[in-house]
Amino acid sequence: MATTTLRLESQPVRLEGVTKLFGKTAAVDDITFEAEAGRLTTLLGPSGCGKTTTLRMIGGFYEPDAGSIHIGPKFVNTVPPHARSTRTVFQSYALFPHMTVFENVAFGLRATRVPRGEIGPRVDEALDLVGLTGLAQRSSGQLSGGQQQRVAFARALVTRPEVLLLDEPLSNLDAKLRVHMRGEIRSLQQDLGITTIYVTHDQEEAMSLSDHVVVMQAGRIDQQGPPHDIYERPATRFVADFIGTSNFVDARVESVAADVVEVAALGSILRLAPPVGAALRPGESVLLVLRPEHLHLQDPDTSDGVGFPGRVASVAYLGAVATYEVALDGGATVTVDNPAPVGAALRHAGDPVRVRLEVDRVYVVPRTDSDTIRRSP
Ligand SMILES: Nc1ncnc2c1ncn2[C@@H]1O[C@H](COP(=O)(O)OP(=O)(O)O)[C@@H](O)[C@H]1O
Ligand SMILES: [Mg+2]
Repeated sequence: MATTTLRLESQPVRLEGVTKLFGKTAAVDDITFEAEAGRLTTLLGPSGCGKTTTLRMIGGFYEPDAGSIHIGPKFVNTVPPHARSTRTVFQSYALFPHMTVFENVAFGLRATRVPRGEIGPRVDEALDLVGLTGLAQRSSGQLSGGQQQRVAFARALVTRPEVLLLDEPLSNLDAKLRVHMRGEIRSLQQDLGITTIYVTHDQEEAMSLSDHVVVMQAGRIDQQGPPHDIYERPATRFVADFIGTSNFVDARVESVAADVVEVAALGSILRLAPPVGAALRPGESVLLVLRPEHLHLQDPDTSDGVGFPGRVASVAYLGAVATYEVALDGGATVTVDNPAPVGAALRHAGDPVRVRLEVDRVYVVPRTDSDTIRRSP
């Protein structure tokens, strides 16, 4: 998509204690977050966790049962969609297949009070933005999936909204095109400086696109923050599991001091440097989150740092990395990702090894999710 000098007005979107019931079930249950002006905020979570319902409340298609939604200074709970400064790109695109590209994009403008003479230039500008220059007279039914996606974007942007709402916009595209389009969406969003709320169940998409990620589970927010925070400092087992890959190791908190937390795990006492996660109490049972890339395979007689003896159970060679399952002598099995070595240096199933642990990358989460779903700040 082309770069542009057109900057849209952008507004923050703020949800406070928002709940949506379908019958007795809360599809969205008391959520609070802010999508900052001009930034890209992602709602990330598995299917059914309430992402679309949240987006529909922001777009005005559903009214919250409790809580408030503000766009900029304006309270919008009961404002209908056409009277809001939001535009939604739906998962299905919802194009009119019998209309031309031009007519599809112009459709949104005709409903507003834009003077007739401005419609042509505005549509051309929107088509340029999304890289569809020259396709205005094509019938929408003849476009590829990627082109339809672009038309849907142009139709949303042509009205110059203050907030762009995107519901799994790439899910109908094949894997390669999806990666390409997410780069285009990100640069278009940044060029325009438009507040964007992006819904996806794909953690990689969320991590690569977002300024701010809101992780949802069962209608609630488990954690929110910039992508690196969510990855490096997961607040719950669910987040650590859903975003990237984690090994979970049972541990018991032995002592808590300002500069060191001691935990008993894997038959040893590990000294961790705070912050290591949730507020911990001595005696408490917790889980250690060990990312596969923070574990390192070594020869069994190595003794630097903190490590545990074990045996390779299986190896998957993936080109850039090799993924090992290692059965530790203490009983636990851990996944280890290491840069793939060349040829003979690859370790094999049955090889005795030592697994070294980067102690300063260990993070602690409460043992069960039910005690840990927290209100967002
Ligand atoms: N119109 C509806 N009527 C009844 N239940 C609904 C409706 N829309 C969504 N739900 C339910 O609300 C929950 C959240 O749905 P949704 O917001 O679509 O999740 P997501 O977009 O994260 O997959 C699901 O359990 C879903 O079945
Ligand atoms: Mg959905």
